[in-house]
Amino acid sequence: MLAMKITFSVTATGDAIAAAVYAERNLSHAAKALDSVTGGAVTRLIAASRFKGNAGDVLELTAPTGVAATRIILFGLGDKDELDGNGVEKAAASVIRSVLTSGAETISLHVDGDAELACRMGLGAHLGAYRFDTYRTKLSDDKKPSVNAVELVVADAAGATKAWASWNPVAEGVALARDLVNAPPNVLYPASYAARIKELTSLGLEVEILDEAQMKELGMNALLGVGQGSAKKSMIAIMTWNGGETGEKPLAFIGKGLTFDSGGISLKPGQGMDEMKGDMGGSAAVVGLMAALAGRKAKVNVVGLVGLVENMPDADAQRPGDIVTSMSGQTIEILNTDAEGRLVLGDVLWYAQERFDPRFMINLATLTGAILIALGHEHAGIFSNDDELVAKLEAAAKASDEAVWRLPIGPEYDRQIDTPNADMKNVGEGRLAGSIAAAQFLLRHVNDKPWVHIDIAGVGMHADSKDPRIPTFGTGYGVRLLDRLVRDHYED
Ligand code: BES
Ligand code: MN
Ligand code: ZN
Repeated sequence: MLAMKITFSVTATGDAIAAAVYAERNLSHAAKALDSVTGGAVTRLIAASRFKGNAGDVLELTAPTGVAATRIILFGLGDKDELDGNGVEKAAASVIRSVLTSGAETISLHVDGDAELACRMGLGAHLGAYRFDTYRTKLSDDKKPSVNAVELVVADAAGATKAWASWNPVAEGVALARDLVNAPPNVLYPASYAARIKELTSLGLEVEILDEAQMKELGMNALLGVGQGSAKKSMIAIMTWNGGETGEKPLAFIGKGLTFDSGGISLKPGQGMDEMKGDMGGSAAVVGLMAALAGRKAKVNVVGLVGLVENMPDADAQRPGDIVTSMSGQTIEILNTDAEGRLVLGDVLWYAQERFDPRFMINLATLTGAILIALGHEHAGIFSNDDELVAKLEAAAKASDEAVWRLPIGPEYDRQIDTPNADMKNVGEGRLAGSIAAAQFLLRHVNDKPWVHIDIAGVGMHADSKDPRIPTFGTGYGVRLLDRLVRDHYED
């Protein structure tokens, strides 16, 4: 991770200067000013091009006369009336990606708006500049990023600088989540992951790790069964942030942290199996969120719990047909060892509500391939027992542009996981409504608490996303969504 430095200023001092153009080639004030100091070079270039000022358009003018900068970049913002925070985030991400390896070292982005819009542009630039180059030892110098600082040019630079203190931790939380998802599974396994989470105590988080002996004692046999075939010991990491009133019940965020999911004895096909290094995306979102909340000193009590496990085939691995008893006391017949995420989460959800009595529980998990079939990479699937919490989450999704789509749950689906041999089985009926069957399994481990399950199998990993804010396989999905939820509803 290479944290991009974001600053705010009333004047542009960068090697490259970027200014907005609206639909139908309507120049912003900053673009007009650049046009006049360059003797009309900006309008001449636009006239000679197909640049219309549509959202996503970027046009570059090199070595202009009349300005100190070596480049002028014009970026489209589309219809001025429809402009919002997400639009400028995407535009800033497109601009930064177009100059990242150009040789320019600093870039000034003109903000056509207030301090809040400036922060959203800063966030977009930070997200778009993200790279995962850790293991590229032979990357030539001219392929490495040259830009090391982004300056947002805005009248209220002081106000924006102050507001950015609450956004930079979010940007860094997303980058942390992405680093975790992108990390290879031989490097990131439960113990090394837990050690990385421990480092977050430097932000003021309390971190506690449960080991296998403690989990055994607690009766978490569903979780332990999943890790049984792995040489790596399973763990649970518990992160606590107490920024609210003492005694106020915490919000609880719970994440699936399969550092690798081979499927176990119900082995997955080889094609694309490497992507299962990202089967800890739910946990990464929780870790990134907790880092963000601590980093911006959120005025709320929150607990984050992640189940860190590796699912491997082995002589000691769990078998199809095994029956295990989860911490809740319920028995589970394992019919497919590849339906492991729900087994891990069942125990962590139960533990979270028993120990913390939270105001709500929101879990994130790359839980089912079926959610990709239903919603692709465009929406996370959400499942809930609480309409009010869903309404808040949907509003946060709109505001943050991390989209969610609610799917149904209910007794007619719950029946799918009945079995004559135990209290429940870990798969549904054939291929029908697979994501819902998984949600019903989780719900059987929730005791009358407001709860949302977010299935992020589609949105948590996405190579080649068309969204300029998402440059790598690990998307960091969930950090911005949940930060927004907390910010807008739980910090008064
Ligand atoms: N981690 C997978 C789900 C997944 C698939 C995430 C593709 C991202 C991309 C999960 O553990 C799994 O294997 N689910 C099975 C469940 C089935 C055996 C009932 C699935 O979706 O096929
Ligand atoms: Mn699986
Ligand atoms: Zn999995």
